[in-house]
Amino acid sequence: MLKVLNIVGARPNFMKIAPIVREMKRRETDFLPLIVHTGQHYDQAMSDSFFTDLGIPKPDFHLEVGSASHAVQTARIMTAFEPVVLEEKPDWVLVVGDVNSTIACALVCAKLGVKIAHVEAGLRSRDRSMPEEINRILTDAISDLLLTTSQDADENLKNEGVAADKIKFVGNVMIDSLFYSLKQAENSTVREDLNLSAKNYAVLTLHRPSNVDEKEILSGLLDALAAISEKLPIIFPAHPRTKANIERFGLTKKIESSNVRLTEPLGYLDFLRLYSGAKMVLTDSGGLQEETTALSIPCLTLRENTERPITISSGTNRLVGTDAEKIKQTAFEVLSRKSDSTDKKIPPLWDGRAAERICNVLLEIK
Ligand code: UD1
Repeated sequence: MLKVLNIVGARPNFMKIAPIVREMKRRETDFLPLIVHTGQHYDQAMSDSFFTDLGIPKPDFHLEVGSASHAVQTARIMTAFEPVVLEEKPDWVLVVGDVNSTIACALVCAKLGVKIAHVEAGLRSRDRSMPEEINRILTDAISDLLLTTSQDADENLKNEGVAADKIKFVGNVMIDSLFYSLKQAENSTVREDLNLSAKNYAVLTLHRPSNVDEKEILSGLLDALAAISEKLPIIFPAHPRTKANIERFGLTKKIESSNVRLTEPLGYLDFLRLYSGAKMVLTDSGGLQEETTALSIPCLTLRENTERPITISSGTNRLVGTDAEKIKQTAFEVLSRKSDSTDKKIPPLWDGRAAERICNVLLEIK
């Protein structure tokens, strides 16, 4: 029986851990899964609603660290997590993704000699100004098992000198959650509530510090989006940090005078229902690049680089950066297409069974 501490902290972690914990619970003679929530995200809309929507059991440990600077947040997680590891003596600690909770918990375990499995290992944007890139590089460097979503990630790790036997290509757990929840999401009334019909709107998300923390950049992006929204309404569930910055920079009017419609952050099922019916998605999120690829929905990524190049080579993603002209041009081109059928390519092992493979690997190498 393997005792595994599964770490979650921020919004994009919840849909990755859900299928893994479900699979571990199904194999109850092989696994004892426990959940640790660091509390990096804490708003109902950023955290609790995901537990409900994804059927994740209540966390066994809640570290309640909250928001702070990177150093303080990372340090708080480490300080609070160390006694849990010492007390529980897990066989494995499983971390997902690239948020501060990921590196903080991995670092605690590396120092205590507890084995770390990193889900979504090996992704690289090669942009070290992104906090997530630092988290990815460091977490991979100290993990014992590197579970990857695509073969380009395997190559990145090998090029960094990681031994091949530590790397396992298992597929994408985020897509496990997506396929698992598609049917259930049909019960969401979000489209009706917002008066939308399928393929007659676009969806926008924006929260990267590089896009939303400087007035000039955020304002330029909103101008481009306002122009696109004249052709197609854009629904914009805003991250708390983005919403706060829009107000702080005095950009609320710019949005109100356009057809960009700001909403509160949505839960997993409502958001899935929303973007799965969109004509196009515009985003700076990592996960949404993958989710749109899995559903063959055109995605414009408002960044200069991506750690998920597979969504371009084998999916629907296009990098458009933050240049207003380029964003508008690409969006208009997508909108003028008669059909999106050319976009139907899905990366290998994005098949809804990644969690099963992760559990198999953990049992094989114990
Ligand atoms: C974090 C992750 C990022 C991920 C994102 C998804 C890191 C370095 N970044 O960024 O990779 O894409 O989560 O959302 O880990 N806030 C709230 N309520 C909350 C959480 C945050 O109001 O529940 C506000 C606070 O003002 C906080 C700010 O959002 O200071 C930023 O939160 P933080 O967790 O530091 O980073 P994110 O930008 O959410």
